[in-house]
Amino acid sequence: MARKTVALLSVIPLLGVSFTEARNFVPVVINTWPFTEATSTAWQALEQGKASLDAVEEGCERCEQLQCDGTVGFGGSPDEDGQTTLDAMIMNGTSMEVGAVCDLQDVKEAVLTARLVMQHTHHSMLAGLAAANFAVQMGLTPANLTTDASSRLHADWSGRPTSASPTSGRM
Ligand SMILES: *[C@@H]1O[C@H](CO)[C@@H](O)[C@H](O)[C@H]1NC(C)=O
Ligand SMILES: *[C@@H]1O[C@H](CO)[C@@H](O)[C@H](O)[C@H]1NC(C)=O
Repeated sequence: MARKTVALLSVIPLLGVSFTEARNFVPVVINTWPFTEATSTAWQALEQGKASLDAVEEGCERCEQLQCDGTVGFGGSPDEDGQTTLDAMIMNGTSMEVGAVCDLQDVKEAVLTARLVMQHTHHSMLAGLAAANFAVQMGLTPANLTTDASSRLHADWSGRPTSASPTSGRM
């Protein structure tokens, strides 16, 4: 993702889940990344009879908590300022409604915020400070997304003037 800070901020695990609601469908969870705990979490949600959208959200949340691949969730790929910022998008495959956040700072729950954007605003995407302010208005707690590991990544990169960003090559 090309941004002025030239950094990949987070990978969104793309999960597709079929409808458990309809008996004639066989439920399927598809994950484009090898994050099997996310897939299992989504599957468990379906087994509990939850809606497909809940399954997608819970699967993605699991990856946010696990910091899958070091690129999802807090402490992921820091930008040139050493900040971790998050992107997430979610879609209701029945209504085609979409909610998304990008450049979300200081809030860990990116996919939940994306879902809240879909359900509680007329926007399809909120970015940056607007996304963070919205998340806090919706009751989410501000958090520090920087970890010792992401600080080290940034510090290592800072000493290498030829690198484009702390996550050079993955922009
Ligand atoms: C998805 O959209 C459909 C059609 O509008 C709606 O009936 C359903 O409740 C939505 N799913 C969720 C989990 O909000
Ligand atoms: C966030 O956490 C990092 C790593 O533990 C720490 O270095 C930094 O001071 C913290 N930032 C704030 C604003 O608390």
